Amino acid sequence: MNSSEFYRFLKARSSVRNYSGEPLDPEDIDYILACASTAPSAGNREAWDVVVVTDEDIRIDLALAALEQDHIREAPAVFVVCANYIRSMSHYGERGILYALQDATIACTYMMLAAHARSLHSCWTGAFDENDVRAILRLPGHVRPIALLAVGRGVPPLRPVGRMPVEEHIHRETW
Ligand SMILES: Cc1cc2nc3c(=O)[nH]c(=O)nc-3n(C[C@H](O)[C@H](O)[C@H](O)COP(=O)(O)O)c2cc1C
Repeated sequence: MNSSEFYRFLKARSSVRNYSGEPLDPEDIDYILACASTAPSAGNREAWDVVVVTDEDIRIDLALAALEQDHIREAPAVFVVCANYIRSMSHYGERGILYALQDATIACTYMMLAAHARSLHSCWTGAFDENDVRAILRLPGHVRPIALLAVGRGVPPLRPVGRMPVEEHIHRETW
């Protein structure tokens, strides 16, 4: 893939919030997880974990925890990406909190792009009640769920969401 193709690949992804419910192949899930494990991490400590949820009853509970966002129930798989504080803080102390959050965020980004590379759709979902998600998935106290990544086959929006001009983000040399 050359740089133009890479840019087109990124531009062609949109968040999808309507899913057919068609199950993912186990190979799709394995591919997404293998791609996540290539993500960089602070000190290579890989301070992230993921709970792969395909069970419909659990997805229904997660959708309720996600402020009733229906795409969490509809999508055949939800990757609940978590920061693993112990893995990072055991080495970096307090700074490890920030690193674990970044490690998990990068891993989730890789999963989202891996789904796209597989011609699957996804929706990064950050609005959820953390305590509810913790209870549903029986998460241990040292991990923090950072995103529910819904993945499946669905209907992309007719018009992709635009972006602000990139220059508005950019400060050169100093702010
Ligand atoms: C940190 C984060 C949290 C998000 N939370 C939600 C969410 O709770 N529900 C939702 O439908 N989309 C959510 N999104 C998706 C964004 O709305 C979406 O990425 C943005 O509008 C740009 O659209 P696009 O992904 O189609 O380019 C979230 C994305 C990020 C990165």
